[in-house]
Amino acid sequence: MLAADAALLLSGCAQATENGAHSTGVPQPCSSLSLLALRRHWFWGSSIDRQALGDADMVQLMKTHAAVLVPENALKWEVVNPRPGVRDLSDFAALEARFGPSGMRFRGHPLVWHEQLPSWLKKAAPTTLREHLHQHITWLVGVHRGRIQSWDVVNEPLAQDGRGLRASLWFHGLGPGYIAEALRWARAADPHAQLVINDYGLEADDSVSLLKRKSLLNLVRDLQRQGAPLDAIGLQAHLRASAEQPTFKTLPAFLAELRGLGLKIMITEFDINDHDLPSSVAQRDRRIAQIYSDFLSVLVAEPGVEGIVQWGMSDRYTWLNQLAPRRDQTPQRPLPFDQALQPKPEFSAICGVLINSTSPPRPSK
Ligand code: XIL
Repeated sequence: MLAADAALLLSGCAQATENGAHSTGVPQPCSSLSLLALRRHWFWGSSIDRQALGDADMVQLMKTHAAVLVPENALKWEVVNPRPGVRDLSDFAALEARFGPSGMRFRGHPLVWHEQLPSWLKKAAPTTLREHLHQHITWLVGVHRGRIQSWDVVNEPLAQDGRGLRASLWFHGLGPGYIAEALRWARAADPHAQLVINDYGLEADDSVSLLKRKSLLNLVRDLQRQGAPLDAIGLQAHLRASAEQPTFKTLPAFLAELRGLGLKIMITEFDINDHDLPSSVAQRDRRIAQIYSDFLSVLVAEPGVEGIVQWGMSDRYTWLNQLAPRRDQTPQRPLPFDQALQPKPEFSAICGVLINSTSPPRPSK
């Protein structure tokens, strides 16, 4: 793309930010992140909870900017199987009913995780865990066969300190082989679904992330040696802003290594925790937008990346106000749209990186 074209598109982008990109009549191409992402063969997506379905403006924002949705809680074990023998898919069915007809795609999240498990399962005899997991995966993947194209099969399998596998209920109950087994069961339940291992704390240059990357690469090589079916790695990208901005200098080599192992890469839960930033909204937005820009600039340079899912689209709905409430009691500002669903500098940052990295077809003379 010519520099002048890019400048023109970017000024349209800033204008869209002022106008509210989702309102009618805003300049192209910022009017839809998913369309903009599509020009570079990426998807843009968001998580969503059932509660947001009652919010018509939010639903519209999702339809405008997301091509892929991930149920934030609707497919978690404690929701779909709260008591032995009780299966409840109503939350996900409600999401599908609202968005399916407009062609929205869904990623499934998560099949195996150590959190949000029903209490009956946590109390189950260790010898029964393997069969419970087998049944759970076979049922949940099978029942959505052909409707969910991509699954986070194992979520957060790596230890928090970056050293090896997490000592979870699954690890203790089934041994380290549970990951390969889960992948095989998922493949058997839907041979066409993309199977993903998803984890956090892998993106930035800090020492724990570097260790965790090594553990992930070891895990992947081990799974591949065993012939376990694994298609992609999901990097959650729950980033954190602090006095020192996170840097991503070592990320390109890591992404290239994953691609070299034959894996696709996607960002699955992108947001930025501003707990440690000062109160000023303008300062916070500027700092967070810069991280958006730095991070996305690395991703657009890596051909293995397939797309980005944000953990929400607007600050109106973000898990971070529960997880990491700010000391000044103001709400967190992790996402591209504010609580009034107006685009923030973070939105312009995304738009700017996508535009600069996208080569639209040349107009014919
Ligand atoms: C979070 C949801 O956003 C919250 O609503 C819920 O209370 C807890 O879980 N990593 C994950 C997600 O893989 O499933 C988590 O989602 C956020 C961290």
